[in-house]
Amino acid sequence: MKPTRLFSALFAILTTLSAGAADNTFDINIKKTGAPIQSTMYGIFFEDINYAADGGLYAELVKNRSFEFPNALQGWKIFGRVEVRDDGPFERNPHYVRLSDPGHAHKHTGLDNEGFFGIGIKRGETYRFSVWARADRPVTLRIELVNTASMGENHYVCQQRLTVDSKDWKKYQVTLRPSQTLGKANMRIFMETRDGASVDLEHISLFPTDTWKGREGGLRKDLAQALADLHPGIFRFPGGCIVEGTDLETRYNWKNTVGPVENRPLNENRWEYTFPHRFYPDYFQSYGLGFFEFFQLSEDIGAEPLPIVSCGLACQFQNNDINAHVPVDQLDPYIQDALDLIEFANGPITSTWGKVRADMGHPEPFNLKYIGIGNEQWDALYPERLEPFIKAIRKAYPNIKIVGSSGPNSEGDQFDYLWPEMKRLGADLVDEHFYRPYNWFLNQGTRYDGYDRKGPKVFAGEYACHASGRKWNHYYASLLEAAFMTGLERNADIVHMATYAPLFAHVEGWQWRPDLIWYDNLNSFRTVSWFVQQLYSQYRGQNVLTLTMGGKPVAGQEGQNGLFASAVRDGKHIYIKVANTSEQAQDISLNFTGLKKKENVKGVKRICLKSDKLYEDNSIDTPDNITPEEEPFDSEGQSFTVTIEPLSFCIYIISAE
Ligand code: AHR
Repeated sequence: MKPTRLFSALFAILTTLSAGAADNTFDINIKKTGAPIQSTMYGIFFEDINYAADGGLYAELVKNRSFEFPNALQGWKIFGRVEVRDDGPFERNPHYVRLSDPGHAHKHTGLDNEGFFGIGIKRGETYRFSVWARADRPVTLRIELVNTASMGENHYVCQQRLTVDSKDWKKYQVTLRPSQTLGKANMRIFMETRDGASVDLEHISLFPTDTWKGREGGLRKDLAQALADLHPGIFRFPGGCIVEGTDLETRYNWKNTVGPVENRPLNENRWEYTFPHRFYPDYFQSYGLGFFEFFQLSEDIGAEPLPIVSCGLACQFQNNDINAHVPVDQLDPYIQDALDLIEFANGPITSTWGKVRADMGHPEPFNLKYIGIGNEQWDALYPERLEPFIKAIRKAYPNIKIVGSSGPNSEGDQFDYLWPEMKRLGADLVDEHFYRPYNWFLNQGTRYDGYDRKGPKVFAGEYACHASGRKWNHYYASLLEAAFMTGLERNADIVHMATYAPLFAHVEGWQWRPDLIWYDNLNSFRTVSWFVQQLYSQYRGQNVLTLTMGGKPVAGQEGQNGLFASAVRDGKHIYIKVANTSEQAQDISLNFTGLKKKENVKGVKRICLKSDKLYEDNSIDTPDNITPEEEPFDSEGQSFTVTIEPLSFCIYIISAE
């Protein structure tokens, strides 16, 4: 019998056996208000991995729009006379193409762009084509979206003419309205004018006009909306290993990502050579999604921005050689980058970097409160570099909170070495990462109960349940994440931030699974883990309440029947989160203490994630395969019994007026 079928059978039998299951009494003291839960508690972590930026959240549809890839024509197919030149108008992106009359009446000149895994276009929507161009005499171009799979009359999905009539570089644009919806269209530029003419083209771009918040050159709407719907309190960016770079040269240098997009220099993506299953030298960062856009997005979605900067260590996974890193006595420019970043975010418009921000359209400060120094660093190499950063930041910006790293592992030598080092250096928060298997999640319910309450706070900055042999998104892994998160919540006095990772993945461009949100060129879907994150965030509450079973926290401990639970108060409401990781339905007595004799609490509703499809998730074709279900829940009293289904996660919403 297949595991899913076996489980279904078990599910049916055990559900009927639920009555009379083990005695689970949760004592919830609703009058004793516990630690406040930080607004930053649940958030998101963005990294350009899995084509998360170009080809993903950044809505640009043209690949290699500035001809700056090492192979200048990668992503393009040319015909006729097309020449790559390098004395263009944008200093940091000097390449462009010259299209010329091919010199024979039966020949034509033009070029096609393949986009990222094709160009996704929707019938009824509009797309803004733009190009920087110049020509000695007027040259007419035909801009087309084409269906490469069809050679008949359906080949052209839309066409527009554009005449370049300026001898100097100038931006031109036209609007395209496709007659078909296609996931893999190409964009073609066809030179119509002949008679020995030529035209120069640079920064060739195509965006949907319907972007997030309607911003020109903005973000893909469905993907940004999926972030907003998470109600994140913190937004960590831009990575991840990408902060560090494959080498120092390719580290994430935020200063290259601000100012006019045309002049943001291309960078090789740290993840470029990590696709075992596809042709890879085509993963670059255009930086169209740069630090201004990250700050703006944080503001849009109501999350505190948390930028991470390089501490002078190139990715330690990829560089064993000490010479790959910046010597400690040469760190000044890196430290200055961190200070300048704070000025960019918060400085007055009269300051150098505050002016850059203002010139980009945001004179008001972004109100930055946190900065991370280094990503997933380890060994003495890290604290010795972090120290001068901390000194300089504290001196210039004493109110900025600094996030340090505990290395790539959730425990072990580096972790044990780095945590005390972070305390010694006075980091405000320590970033912990754990991509761990089922058992780890099942056994870590009490992880934070014993942490030192006087030291730095915890930022669970990257985590996800990774089952060995099942490295893809699936319901059971998400359930264990939900169970584990009760421990984060119970310890909200010390855990101040938590972000699942990675965030995004293109179905044709991923190199890391599982991920929170998946998409192709037209559609996206939210995984079960996304719903877990969203439920925690939406029902974050304001203060922790004590919830125990036999005097102990409910954290999957011995004798607790695979149950995990936490409780919070939110004004007049109490939210009780329960994960049942056992294969049995269980009765649970919710016993509310601290009430006066005649005081009662009242059930409002319960929201549950439950499924017998343990190894399945949602998908592009079935985005609603497994989603939370709301049910009425109308018990009333000081104590009542609920039944929770096997392998499920539920939030009980209770009114305590
Ligand atoms: O999230 C993917 C990677 O995992 C991050 O870049 C890195 O910080 C960690 O190793």
